[in-house]
Amino acid sequence: MISGVITKGINGIPKIPGDKSISHRSIIIPSISNGFCEINNILKSEDVMHTLNAFKAMGVNIEDNGKKLIIQGKGLNSLNESKIDIYLGNSGTSARLLTGLLSSQNFKSVLTGDKSLSSRPMQRITDPLSKMNAKIFTTKGSLPLTIERSNLKPAEIDLKIPSAQIKSGLLLAALNTEGETNITENKITRDHTEIMLQSFGANIEIKKIDKKKIIKVIGKKELVSNNIDVPNDLSSSAFFIVAALINSNSNITLKNINNNPTRNGIILALKKMGAKIKLINNRTNNNENICDIEVINSNLHGCELGPEFADLMIDEYPILAVAASFADSPSIFRGLKELRVKESDRLKLILLNLQNCGVNCKSENDDLYIYPSKNYQIKNNIIRTDFDHRIAMAFCIMGTKIGPLNIEDSNSINTSFPTFKKELNNLGGRIF
Ligand code: S3P
Repeated sequence: MISGVITKGINGIPKIPGDKSISHRSIIIPSISNGFCEINNILKSEDVMHTLNAFKAMGVNIEDNGKKLIIQGKGLNSLNESKIDIYLGNSGTSARLLTGLLSSQNFKSVLTGDKSLSSRPMQRITDPLSKMNAKIFTTKGSLPLTIERSNLKPAEIDLKIPSAQIKSGLLLAALNTEGETNITENKITRDHTEIMLQSFGANIEIKKIDKKKIIKVIGKKELVSNNIDVPNDLSSSAFFIVAALINSNSNITLKNINNNPTRNGIILALKKMGAKIKLINNRTNNNENICDIEVINSNLHGCELGPEFADLMIDEYPILAVAASFADSPSIFRGLKELRVKESDRLKLILLNLQNCGVNCKSENDDLYIYPSKNYQIKNNIIRTDFDHRIAMAFCIMGTKIGPLNIEDSNSINTSFPTFKKELNNLGGRIF
């Protein structure tokens, strides 16, 4: 894919797709509930389709009527054993959440994934699950993994790594486990699973003590389905927000965007950099905060972000790094260790690709330093993505300022935002 320079800014109202995290949960939770669930605006991307196909393979009746997805839940303990290995493509969320859920089912499952997913750490979820007596065999700590049938026991689990995927996998395991499981989080992670479980009637109680959050689940209570309106994805919006900020004569509005305070760090960070971003029409739907976002091009300043920001916006550092490259002073983003175990080693690829674009940057102890300049001389016009959708989209936005940039293996964008190119081009982008 080639991303060319934008000449007249980007203007208009892009159609941002449904939120990826909420879409996964909108398939998983209704499938193990009772009754019918109609889901509006689900994200139809490759990652989410892998979750959907997994539940179809386990006997869940899922129908797409063109407008909505309709899921007929099977209850907590009635999924069927899949006749084939469950292939999850590139999707870490599917892998971690399903490992938890399936360890509590009465059958054996095998999970597989693509090259990137098969190199990502799974012990972060299998270790705490083994405290609940789960029997899971990984391949050197990664996929393929085999989940043997086992009787789970409730447990007290202190999360060592801040991760919504781990927390959610454990919550799903605890739902189908007799007795009281307590999961303690020491840092904030996105809370879509807790929000949805509460509205489906799970026996779950949340206590906050200082920065700790303790989630108590009493298992074996059947869930009751609710209809779901999936809001649009802030992480996907971030590429358009930054494109509008760094290109003069830009003015865009993003509609119906999820503004959950456990993951809206990108808005806080960009505002700290002087971005003209307005959140309007704040409202809630399915207990998620929603708003519309107006953005106009702005003079950005560099900033220092502590590691607490990483908990609130881990997926947005590739695009934030692009924004920082066009600020009028340097930036330091601290505590980015978790970036190394995403769909790619994102810290490595941000550095390599910014340097390819002529940006002076470095990392020390997992902190990222960016020293922007007024003019960039491209040094190597091949953006390496390692098939990572967010690296590909972030550097497409880089191309809108310094292009044409050659983005390798950009098909990965289908993981989360299949209409990205069309939407950007509709607003004045030049991607071909
Ligand atoms: C996700 C959680 C995050 C995020 C990922 C989606 C989720 O990962 O990076 O893209 O849907 O739970 P961790 O919280 O595991 O770091």
